Amino acid sequence: MKRIKAIYPGSFDPPTNGHLDLIERGSKIFDELIVAILRNPEKDPLFSVADRRKMLEAMTAGFDNVLVDTFEGLTVDYALRVEAQAILRGIRAISDYEYELQMALMNRKIQPGLETVFMMPAEKYSYVSSRLVREVAQLGGSIDCLVPELVAQKLREKMDVAHKFENGEQLAGKTHSEGKSKSRKKKL
Ligand code: PNS
Repeated sequence: MKRIKAIYPGSFDPPTNGHLDLIERGSKIFDELIVAILRNPEKDPLFSVADRRKMLEAMTAGFDNVLVDTFEGLTVDYALRVEAQAILRGIRAISDYEYELQMALMNRKIQPGLETVFMMPAEKYSYVSSRLVREVAQLGGSIDCLVPELVAQKLREKMDVAHKFENGEQLAGKTHSEGKSKSRKKKL
């Protein structure tokens, strides 16, 4: 019997409940699903690839047929390397469609044998994106229902570190400007 392996590529910075919902749906229709985190040297992510991998591994520990991996370069090349037949992507709203269609058609142009399969996460996650989760967390809003608890915890830790750093910087800034005003005084 033919076994279908799919990859679910993405940035997952951070992984959300929407991602988890899609992983669960994908795990039901594919024999094997690899959640593939893109290692993108051009992006400045909030979480390191290692952190994202750990979070996704913990989130997917309950699924027997789901693996987490990382990749660099073209998604289609990675899919071929791991002998996957399909790429899974989520579409939350019509606004996702244009970009996703463009990407799917480009991937098909480069690698015609590979199919992109779109799935819709539950409606309650239709507004959840990693970008908005990052923004809400950075501005002190609650992200508790948007991400799994372990991700919320990691986000809180990140924000604490960021606040401490900012406070430290502000103090350093004061010293710096005091220093500046002293040197200005000297010049006068
Ligand atoms: O979670 P994201 O950021 O929407 O995922 C986008 C991702 C990683 C699937 C896409 O950027 C991608 O496939 N990048 C790898 C490079 C590549 O294959 N580019 C051509 C896409 S047509």
